[in-house]
Amino acid sequence: MTPGITVSDFGELPDGRMVSLFTIQSASGIEMRVTNYGGIIVSLTAPDRNGVQEDVVLGFSHLDAYLTASPYFGSIIGRCGNRIGKAEFSLDGETYHLAANTGENHLHGGITGFDKVLWNALPFSSGDDLGLVFTYTSPDGEEGYPGTLSVTVTYVLSATNQLSITYEATTDKATPVNLTHHSYFNLAGPLSDSILDHELMIPADHFTPIDSEFIPTGQIQSVQGTPMDFRSPISIGLRIDAEDQQIINGLGYDHNFVLTEQGTHLKLAARVFERQSGRIMEVTTTEPGIQFYAGNFLDGTLMGKAGRPYAHRSGFCLETQHFPDSPNQPTFPSIILRPGDVYSTRTVYSFSTNSDSR
Ligand code: GLA
Repeated sequence: MTPGITVSDFGELPDGRMVSLFTIQSASGIEMRVTNYGGIIVSLTAPDRNGVQEDVVLGFSHLDAYLTASPYFGSIIGRCGNRIGKAEFSLDGETYHLAANTGENHLHGGITGFDKVLWNALPFSSGDDLGLVFTYTSPDGEEGYPGTLSVTVTYVLSATNQLSITYEATTDKATPVNLTHHSYFNLAGPLSDSILDHELMIPADHFTPIDSEFIPTGQIQSVQGTPMDFRSPISIGLRIDAEDQQIINGLGYDHNFVLTEQGTHLKLAARVFERQSGRIMEVTTTEPGIQFYAGNFLDGTLMGKAGRPYAHRSGFCLETQHFPDSPNQPTFPSIILRPGDVYSTRTVYSFSTNSDSR
């Protein structure tokens, strides 16, 4: 296939608006399909050690499934990734009530988060880089958040097997903002039913423990001697059902890791290796944290693109972010964006292979 971007129809929203599907073919052979509904990455290929391109993300073939049943497959997440306890927070002396969409709590931006809105999409190319610029204006009060938020999310696929996602936002009133991306990966390809044999490394000395509703307790806990220690590569499955209170609370891994290296430069946040295919994915980010979610809520009821149901733990997410529930946790880095400031973060997913299968 020649490198370039093509566009086709992906279906129609209940209100009659048409949804597009963009197919980006990179010079290196990676193909990514993205829709302007939720900015969702519908498919993304990566080469195995023999150069064979296979889809490494979970998703659906049709728009309808995304409208009704998606557990945030491949989408942009906002205004705030992960949970805000009791769906409320105080800012500058005022209490704000957000949409509660998981029990009493707020998850991934609410009932109609950024994963469920139609974005404006503009394809572009620059040298060998091919990409899409998504823009969306979130109105004042949307899902309970203060201020009109203007958001730009840019996807760039390079000829060196890298997917870069850049997030920018400005506001006209102070508001929390914590944007992320929610692809579920399985580097073994579309026929794999499990991610438990993937080896994961996260350079984090600490994580933020959660209560039984997945809300951070506010502590920053050492990973030392716990199943959360991914500082050396280790199989995801090895300790995922350990007798450990955090594993019990998370139903497996569903935790925010505090990257040891801090700063707003791009730094390594995770490295994943899948032995059979030889595929490696590295995540670098300007963010201070990363949520490792092991697909614990997948239960075999969603029918995937390849005509197979998505089994328990058949995909994992690595969501770069500020820490969950930050508006209610004074010890966590602030996620408040004020008028005149520019929110700006970047995350890069890099694909390569290791020829050694031992
Ligand atoms: C996340 C959360 C999980 C779950 C999934 C979506 O990443 O951390 O608890 O809500 O999204 O199913």
